[in-house]
Amino acid sequence: MGVHQRQLGVFYNNDTLKCCNPLFFAEMARNLILGLNQYTHSAAVCVLDTNGKMLFCGEKERVSRKKHDGGDTADLVEHALNAVGAKLSDVRMVCANNHLFRIDRFHDSVDWSTALFQYRSSYVSDFNLLPGIERLELSHHLAHAWSALPYAPFDNGIIVVADGMGSTLHEMQMPGENYFTDLSLDKHPQFHEVERKDEAFGWREGESAFLFEGGNIQQLFKRFIPEPSPSLLYNYGFEDMSSLGALYSRVSSHIFADWNACGKVMGMAPLASKWNKDYKHQPILSGGLDDLVIDWQRLRNAVNPNQWNDEKNRGAYASLAADMQSDLETVMLEKLQDLRAKTGAKNLIFVGGVALNSTLNGRIHREAGFEQVFIPHYPGDQGLAVGCAAFAYAQLNNQQLPTQQQALSPYSGVAYTDDDTAAALNDWQDWIEEADLEDTDVADVVAQAINDGQIVAWFDGRSEFGPRALGNRSILADPRRGEMVERINSAIKKRESYRPFAPSVLEEKVSEWFDDASPSPYMSLTVQARADKAEQIPAVVHADGSSRIQTLSANDNAKYHDLVQRFEKLSGVPMLLNTSFNIKQEPIVETPADAMKSFLDSDLDLLVINGRLFRQRKFPEMLTGSMIPLAAPNFTAESVSNAEGDNMSVRLMVRGETFDIEQIELGLLEVCNGENTLHDITDYFKEHWDVEQDTIMSHLQGLYSRCLVSIITPQE
Ligand SMILES: [Fe+2]
Repeated sequence: MGVHQRQLGVFYNNDTLKCCNPLFFAEMARNLILGLNQYTHSAAVCVLDTNGKMLFCGEKERVSRKKHDGGDTADLVEHALNAVGAKLSDVRMVCANNHLFRIDRFHDSVDWSTALFQYRSSYVSDFNLLPGIERLELSHHLAHAWSALPYAPFDNGIIVVADGMGSTLHEMQMPGENYFTDLSLDKHPQFHEVERKDEAFGWREGESAFLFEGGNIQQLFKRFIPEPSPSLLYNYGFEDMSSLGALYSRVSSHIFADWNACGKVMGMAPLASKWNKDYKHQPILSGGLDDLVIDWQRLRNAVNPNQWNDEKNRGAYASLAADMQSDLETVMLEKLQDLRAKTGAKNLIFVGGVALNSTLNGRIHREAGFEQVFIPHYPGDQGLAVGCAAFAYAQLNNQQLPTQQQALSPYSGVAYTDDDTAAALNDWQDWIEEADLEDTDVADVVAQAINDGQIVAWFDGRSEFGPRALGNRSILADPRRGEMVERINSAIKKRESYRPFAPSVLEEKVSEWFDDASPSPYMSLTVQARADKAEQIPAVVHADGSSRIQTLSANDNAKYHDLVQRFEKLSGVPMLLNTSFNIKQEPIVETPADAMKSFLDSDLDLLVINGRLFRQRKFPEMLTGSMIPLAAPNFTAESVSNAEGDNMSVRLMVRGETFDIEQIELGLLEVCNGENTLHDITDYFKEHWDVEQDTIMSHLQGLYSRCLVSIITPQE
């Protein structure tokens, strides 16, 4: 597996960990280590056993269904322990990180502040506080460093951490018996800390670099950035903060009112010349990271914040995005080359939110001069859970790193069982039907469907950890069909139409289709499509001719690799368009129930769950008067009226969701009680509401498409 092949590596098999598998439970060691990213965005948990084997990694957002969810981790820890068949008393040690505040101090008062209703009661759950379990705490950048150190395919080199903001210097300097920061690490002879010159309320970690050999880490570089306001009131749009990640997030906040939409900014950068005919690069950043000069006026004078929907702003937005992207690449590459030259290091680990920037990552692979570059599939803050767990393991085992037996796998969540699928189907069978595959192989059916232009949701085995779906929770389509970009962006993902899609490419064929194809098993870097091939795969090549590739080997994911091979046999193209299986900006689906719900709520053509094929049941073309429409159970509704008492809208609540429906649809749901036939219902509406049958049928179809009504055909 190229750069990620290492004799060491965490062993986990794509299909071995079944939810609540009793066999697994019986065999499990009783000394688990938990790593947590807690009380902040992207809350996550990592579970290691006594040998350092990674049993589970997962993010809170997949369980809570709220994107980038943070806060307490009670439900997540319970989910993780269930997944590995363990209980709280099996946990030997927990290590956690939070970049906003010191957890040890927060826990001193959480009982009291929860009693005063400042926090939900789950904050004081045993699954969150983990009482009686030895607890460590790590500063932010040190936790990022540890997240990759044991899992890189080399045992020496440089670790560079770059993100929006790390821990505060003030808190890093506070004493704490079980609190660890990099300030106490040895300093490399070339260590340099950027002088803190500005006036500031406080200081936060901006960028850090370390030199490592085995588990021995030295400080190599540190830049604290000024924090203009108290840390608990910190600026959510990163308005005044000067780390590379914060500056990038400021641009993201400006364009999308979301500091965490940096991927959208990166995707927009290549469109600057197209959307702004006069585009010419104007630097926002100048100087190197040691003496960075920021054109704050340029950022503050940027026009029309948060008006994406007004097309006239797009030229200015794309110009801003392109300038920031270009400057980030220049500053980061120069720093990396400088660190390499000073230390003679051959290998690089790159982590922190900035390492999600696949365009930058591609240039680092090609231009920074390292022999090997490792970027894990969790470079953002979810990865801190891994770093904390690995650090705790080393503390318990005389600084030994977690034992590794195989390359690091992104498939570290739960593999759901056929029973889970059956339970989900039970809930949705009025709208979903399972296809009878007879003797055909599901992979052949799916490859053919994609070849024919269909879009398939592919759910298989253990869920991925990190922001990318890598073939176990993916939406797949034909890369040759340019129209797929518009169709998936608008009809399925409900996102901006310019956003590009990425290909999963058979590793052995990458160089036939892409230039400088470095191994990219986690879809973490962009490369250029070969000039003679790009026009064959328009759905996965961006405006600048680049593609964010996932290089796919049978070792990484045998079933997915096999599927792509079958598509290649039909199409001659050794890749599939792969985007994460989520709709409408929701988190990636986790369970079969999530998958079915998202499938029904989208224009996806087929759904595959662990080899079983599902289709949406169409609204019956021929309805007979004896059929019985049945409303979803246990709905409640509220009507909104104006001052004159006229009904303005109806809000329906069912299955924990809210739908806006019309008054007549509420009336329809009320009579769809399982007793009235279609004939009774149309007669009733004709007589009492003076509404024709066609209108009723049209509303009925609308309710059916939202799974608010099913149709029962009476037995003869
Ligand atoms: Fe971070």
